[in-house]
Amino acid sequence: MHNERFFDQTLAMIERGNSGAALPMLAGKLYNACTDSASWPQTRTALRQHPLHAALMEDPFSAYSALRPRGYPGDAGLIDIIYDKTAPGPATDLGRELFEITVQFQAPEGVRMRRAHAEPLVTSAWRQGKRILVLACGHFREGALLIGQDISNITLVDQDPISLDVVHANHGGSANIVAANVFRFLRAAALRGDSFDLIYTLGLTDYLDDRAMRMLHRLAKACLAPGGTFLLANFLPAHLGTGWMDAVMDWHLIYREEADLEHFAGEAGFAARTWRDPTNSVAWCEMKHPG
Ligand SMILES: C[S@@+](CC[C@H](N)C(=O)[O-])C[C@H]1O[C@@H](n2cnc3c(N)ncnc32)[C@H](O)[C@@H]1O
Repeated sequence: MHNERFFDQTLAMIERGNSGAALPMLAGKLYNACTDSASWPQTRTALRQHPLHAALMEDPFSAYSALRPRGYPGDAGLIDIIYDKTAPGPATDLGRELFEITVQFQAPEGVRMRRAHAEPLVTSAWRQGKRILVLACGHFREGALLIGQDISNITLVDQDPISLDVVHANHGGSANIVAANVFRFLRAAALRGDSFDLIYTLGLTDYLDDRAMRMLHRLAKACLAPGGTFLLANFLPAHLGTGWMDAVMDWHLIYREEADLEHFAGEAGFAARTWRDPTNSVAWCEMKHPG
């Protein structure tokens, strides 16, 4: 009943043209509500059954996420919407109004900062001729400055052929593009004795359970040259859009603190440095091969 009243009033605010106040207020309510794991499923169901949900689905960003056009959550098309702040396809007037707000939320801002941090890093490593491995590369948007360059020292791995078509269209023949599950790729690379100076992954570990995280660290270490760097970024539980992403966008991530990331690094025998981005959305973990 309490939820119903809240959702009724939120919808009324949106209908009166006050989405700018209604959406952050709703996100805040969902952020609080999702910390109570016992009542959260009911809150989420109540929202999805309320007419408010249909209004929220007019936002092309939230709708794309919930509809999962490529069949899995968080595809590179969704990440492009965030990077470009451009709605995919036509939208209603309300949809456009909502989009302007949701695409500015804290978590999308964290995704944009993640790319902004990675861009100079990969560009500089490429310039130095380092052997670079990008795991779950998506559209490799952090490689934008390298379009038109020979990037034969960069190996880009993703399991989604649509993503790799985009990478191929942007970077052409010189890129070493591999369609594979990252674990299968790393296992084969380790067996071949492949060695990289920089291995990094953005937007992958948020979907990996702890067992898969351990495997990722172990395999990445096996493919890292002595003195090489393994870098990853994982969403933090602290960002205020956790409930919104779960209930509205149907986008469920595995959140981790810096200490969790240090733990995985330590288990694999890496020396690690962690930090969080200014939006409090994303934690980074930079690991050095001890040899
Ligand atoms: C959230 S997107 C991130 C894309 C890109 N790294 C970025 O930050 O813009 C996640 C990408 O990971 C890929 N992916 C997820 N799990 C994977 C796996 N086990 N092996 C290979 N690719 C995977 C998806 O296909 C998708 O392109």
